[in-house]
Amino acid sequence: MSLVQKTLARISRLNSNGVGEILNDHDEPIMEVPFALPQEIIEYSTSNLQSHNLIDIKFRSPHREKPLCRHFRECGGCSLQHASENFVKDWKKSVVVKLLEEKNLFPQFRKTFITPERSRRRAVFSGRRTKKGTIVGFNSSKSDVIVSVIGCIVVDEKILSFLPGMNRIAGLGCSRSSVIKIHVSNSENGLDVHVKSGKPLDKKLSIDLAAIAVDYDLARLSWGKDLIAINRPPVQILGNVEIVPPEDFFMQATKESELKMSNDVCESLEGEKTIIDLFCGLGTFSFPLARTKKIFAFEQSPEMLKTLVLASRQNSNLKPITTNIRNLHERPVTKDELLEIDGAVLNPTRAGANKQCAELARSGIKTIMMISCNPITFARDAEILTRGYYNLDWVRVVDQFRWSHHIELVAKFSNKN
Ligand SMILES: C[S@@+](CC[C@H](N)C(=O)[O-])C[C@H]1O[C@@H](n2cnc3c(N)ncnc32)[C@H](O)[C@@H]1O
Repeated sequence: MSLVQKTLARISRLNSNGVGEILNDHDEPIMEVPFALPQEIIEYSTSNLQSHNLIDIKFRSPHREKPLCRHFRECGGCSLQHASENFVKDWKKSVVVKLLEEKNLFPQFRKTFITPERSRRRAVFSGRRTKKGTIVGFNSSKSDVIVSVIGCIVVDEKILSFLPGMNRIAGLGCSRSSVIKIHVSNSENGLDVHVKSGKPLDKKLSIDLAAIAVDYDLARLSWGKDLIAINRPPVQILGNVEIVPPEDFFMQATKESELKMSNDVCESLEGEKTIIDLFCGLGTFSFPLARTKKIFAFEQSPEMLKTLVLASRQNSNLKPITTNIRNLHERPVTKDELLEIDGAVLNPTRAGANKQCAELARSGIKTIMMISCNPITFARDAEILTRGYYNLDWVRVVDQFRWSHHIELVAKFSNKN
């Protein structure tokens, strides 16, 4: 027999995933309520199996808003469209403030930068075959259900207009139960499409895929390590420099946030002559800085560094960029190797860069700019730097992953000595 009990409860806060939390008397979370906001009183039911369902919101937050996207809740991409822009802005900043306060760090905060709607220039879609045909979209949160996202308000329209082509790719390239990942990026010359985990390529599949590249006028279509078609080079522009990335590459999610962060970096390092760019990728920060500064760029991907080297050789108006392939977690650049450097850019993955920060912390570098997509590892690494020779001067939250709980930030550290 199932005993269903209805209960009222107040949402105290959002957790780091942007999910509402109910706390007990000791301020410990006892229940998570997705799509609920702080101060809201909700009614939920609990079955004897301890599962719970949100029935009704009895008191609504003044920050609650009607979601703009018809796929919200279903699609796992956004988690905060039910809250106002100001609420999300303040909440993202408060997450960073709290994590830094826990480390005894109280920097200034520059104005949060919010990326525009429909500006995501790069997205990864999942695709598979269904009984009736194919489905391509985003994975619903915490499940492997794929939700079609034709009305998405985050991703650039040029990318969304290729959804029919992605469905054709899924029809051709998925084996029965497999899921393919279709990485689509905007380039200056059209879409750059890279498919991962598709079925093995044979002659017929290559010909059929090449037809899709022609029909949708793609700049490039690649399949795992194989190039299917290149109609025009899929050029990206980094600080006025044209580059053609390898098939599998990293770039910042929106051009607007890339430019904001790159302007912050260039402005803060204006006085420095020799820069080290750690986790440099394709040179998002190296190229704008190389207009006036000598660069040492470190990265573990040989393919991305090859692109960077080629583009720097073709641009005689740049100062020299010296590249190094290095795993900076296993072998950080040491304090002694940093003797000639006066400015640093550090842009690690979500894991952060604690070992690298331990070396930087005792270096003579005047200014360190850190760009991070994970405030938790950022706070840990900021503490390492500030226990060494550095002050944390300011932080800017960049809402690059709009309507999601993800937080990007840029921060300036200056040497106390
Ligand atoms: C967040 S991306 C930043 C790239 C670049 N700064 C940009 O803005 O486009 C992090 C970069 O670190 C590289 N990376 C990941 N792990 C690494 C490691 N252990 N050592 C060196 N580079 C690494 C990735 O290949 C990626 O290019």
